[in-house]
Amino acid sequence: MRRGGWPIRKSSQSSFELDFGTSPAGCYWKRAIREITNDHFIDDRELFRSMMAEEEIGKTQDSVEVNKIKKRVFEEAIDEFRKVFGEVKIEELRAGISPGRVNLIGDHVDYVDGFVLPIALPLYTIAVARPVKSINQNFTQIHSTHFKETAKFYHYKEDDDAENRLQKWAHYAEGIFELHRPNQPLDVILHTNIPVGAGLSSSASVELALYYLFDQFNDVHLSTEKIAMLCQKAEHEYAGVPCGIMDQFVCSLAHVGHALKIDCSNLAYDRIPLAISRDASFIVVDSGVKHALASGEYAKRRAAVEQTLQVIMGARSWRDVTEAHLAEYSPELSQEERNCAKHVVGEISRTNQASEALLDNNIKLFGELMWESHESLKNLYRVSCIELDKLVDIAKSCEGVWGARMTGGGFGGCIVALVKNSKINEFKKSIEENYSGRPRFFDGHPVNGGQILDIAELLKN
Ligand code: GLA
Repeated sequence: MRRGGWPIRKSSQSSFELDFGTSPAGCYWKRAIREITNDHFIDDRELFRSMMAEEEIGKTQDSVEVNKIKKRVFEEAIDEFRKVFGEVKIEELRAGISPGRVNLIGDHVDYVDGFVLPIALPLYTIAVARPVKSINQNFTQIHSTHFKETAKFYHYKEDDDAENRLQKWAHYAEGIFELHRPNQPLDVILHTNIPVGAGLSSSASVELALYYLFDQFNDVHLSTEKIAMLCQKAEHEYAGVPCGIMDQFVCSLAHVGHALKIDCSNLAYDRIPLAISRDASFIVVDSGVKHALASGEYAKRRAAVEQTLQVIMGARSWRDVTEAHLAEYSPELSQEERNCAKHVVGEISRTNQASEALLDNNIKLFGELMWESHESLKNLYRVSCIELDKLVDIAKSCEGVWGARMTGGGFGGCIVALVKNSKINEFKKSIEENYSGRPRFFDGHPVNGGQILDIAELLKN
């Protein structure tokens, strides 16, 4: 536990380490020590890990404002429940909840052992259910309020009827149902205020919310890391999307006030406090478009970089590839392979630098890395589109914008911008005036990851 005075704590190895905590003051101390010692006093990573150790931070609750958002989404879900399944008492219900996410930097590198730096957003999917009343009903029904459709999932496979053809959205639910099955039939409402298809992880949030719902109806309780892996498996095997681990991991492990730096080669992670938010904010802008080629191009890029790796490293990890390797193997690669390889190596390095910049509250450097990342995704990896480029260009022309970039899979969806707090209104106005589509803005305020929703607690306030 933290003590007052000089920040020292006993480590688990029984030696003493400096403990600065994760508060802005803690970050100040860390920076001060760095300056005094020229970075040689203590291994940063060790210090960082000790600062971030979960038991040291303790569980921090989402803010009152954020709980109000959850409550609103929950109440909407209940209204929908009553419309679809009839009257219900609140005490009969169980619920799981998950936020959406935005990635601050490190795109298209989670499936190549890279680093990513996402935060969970105060946008939510809630899965709320009641055990079915009839003992003759042997299926769980899941109704999506967004798609206005109900899918049936049988508890005994032999009862499955051929007519039960699932729509695309329902395959995500099917995956969690099959991999984390509730032990009794349920009536479920899936409700969200995350814009669907905008690249803010509405799919991962469905997986997580259903996981936490079903978790209350079975005896298999996994660690947060394993939950993320189970949800990713559901997406690969049931929805047929070859995604990386970023979305499920951050929706599962995110911590209020922190970005999550994930090392996708081994799933180690660091929680990095967003001290930056005292001076600036991450604003998410939804372009309102999603181009049809998104999922096909995603799979193509992934296959292509895996193949390129074979040429360069004989299928070791992209994490071992350096600029020097790229130069050496350049003649053996096509222009397109060279460009994709350059993006991967550059983006992994940028994400590392960006997380250090975040730790140092170096807004300027963080912003520069964001611009560079966008250029790389646009010109080298080619996953941007006209609308995202336009939004980034407008952001560039605004005073008080430190950096901006497309975020997530691309081909539509959102950009994320780092904007000086006093300039946020001007920034939004400029986007509204100069972007021909219908932009929507979301506050990049980091919240906790998914969990079982404590309904009684939520409704208390
Ligand atoms: C999608 C995938 C993630 C990641 C991003 C790009 O969101 O689900 O795994 O690859 O694209 O960074």
